[in-house]
Amino acid sequence: MSSYIIEGGNKLQGETYVSGSKNASLPIMAATVLNKGISKLYNVPEIHDTQMMIEILKNLGCKVIKRSNKIVIDTSNVKNFEIPENLMHEMRSSVILAGAILGRYKKAVFSYPGGCDIGARPIDLHLKGFEKLGIATEKNYGKIICKADEITAAEINLDFPSVGATENCILAAVLAEGTTKIINAAMEPEIVDLQNFLNRMGAKIEGAGSNIIKIEGVKKLNSVSYNIMPDRIEAGTLLCSAAITGGNITLKKANAKDIAPVLDKLSETGCVIQLEADSINLKAPKRLKSVNIRTMPYPGFPTDMQSIIAANMCIASGTSIIAENIFENRFKYTGELQKMGAKIRIAGNTAIIKGIRKLYASRVIATDLRGGASLVLAGLAAKGKTQIDNVGYILRGYEKLDKKLNSLGAKMELK
Ligand code: UD1
Repeated sequence: MSSYIIEGGNKLQGETYVSGSKNASLPIMAATVLNKGISKLYNVPEIHDTQMMIEILKNLGCKVIKRSNKIVIDTSNVKNFEIPENLMHEMRSSVILAGAILGRYKKAVFSYPGGCDIGARPIDLHLKGFEKLGIATEKNYGKIICKADEITAAEINLDFPSVGATENCILAAVLAEGTTKIINAAMEPEIVDLQNFLNRMGAKIEGAGSNIIKIEGVKKLNSVSYNIMPDRIEAGTLLCSAAITGGNITLKKANAKDIAPVLDKLSETGCVIQLEADSINLKAPKRLKSVNIRTMPYPGFPTDMQSIIAANMCIASGTSIIAENIFENRFKYTGELQKMGAKIRIAGNTAIIKGIRKLYASRVIATDLRGGASLVLAGLAAKGKTQIDNVGYILRGYEKLDKKLNSLGAKMELK
């Protein structure tokens, strides 16, 4: 796997833009399978995970043409209902294809997404949702075989507002007979984007963005073009990169509403935030102030930003307490930050971070996507040369991160 070499200590300044959302692109790419025809998707980020989704779609029999951030998916000849195990292991979120394949063909075979770097990530809620919709689910030597004669609308009460389970239930219900209701649905903006895409195709869904989603089954969908929403986690990461270096940046193509809890926390740290129609400006103070954070399902503070803000807190004045309430093993990266001098103590699901004046450049290893990104931030702030190994994790989810940060004055290269 490749490495990032960062020569830290430069204040980030200037203007860059936010790419399309990874977590919206993946379910929307999966959703194209529901319709027999052509979908044109714009603003899809060029990252490892969307490339893996293209590979899986091709494996199912789709024709996919990719030109930069535009993807054309022709689902006319899907002939395979099984998601290959090796691709399933490459990308956990490939499980989201199950709902789409089931919705169209009423059968799907896939395997468990496998062990994980941030927690167990079971799929019991996805399967319970499928069963409510009249789909039989059978586990056989690590494979999950799902079949239904008819998918029938139902009321699905999710035990927890899981993003993936909500998306899978929507996808499986779009072409079902009758009206499905998902109660305690996840309210993330990416689910609203999925609803908007499906409705443009001719689906009848309402309520995404609230905790009750209604899906009135339709008989047929149409070919459409769709522009993917901006990536709110990338936006948060870039703003935090400016904050940790004492910088001043403007982000274009950003949606401030989607990252309101992150912007609120950054304001608490002393950053001055100014919003315009589709841009966010952040001016960092001389030294950040500590803040306490609890990750929550949307609209709470996103778990995907937990490690990113934690990097900032390592050099803030005062002690921060960060509670991770979504994933049970999302503090692995803190061991790497400690190598850079950070004073972090973990107690159960809580990280206690005592802010120090500066971090030290070091050689560290990315442990997962967002944990890896937090090391990039630490490297930007630490004077000297930081080497981050295993950056394959970071490339899964950030488009042109080195180029964007360099355009703001960072010195960073991918080796
Ligand atoms: C999605 C995002 C991920 C984000 C997460 C939470 C994508 C591709 N990924 O992941 O970046 O961190 O939402 O905002 O969109 N759970 C169960 N059983 C299930 C499903 C989930 O117990 O069947 C638990 C998980 O272990 C976790 C919690 O629910 O503790 C939240 O998971 P979920 O919302 O499903 O996250 P993902 O959809 O996997």
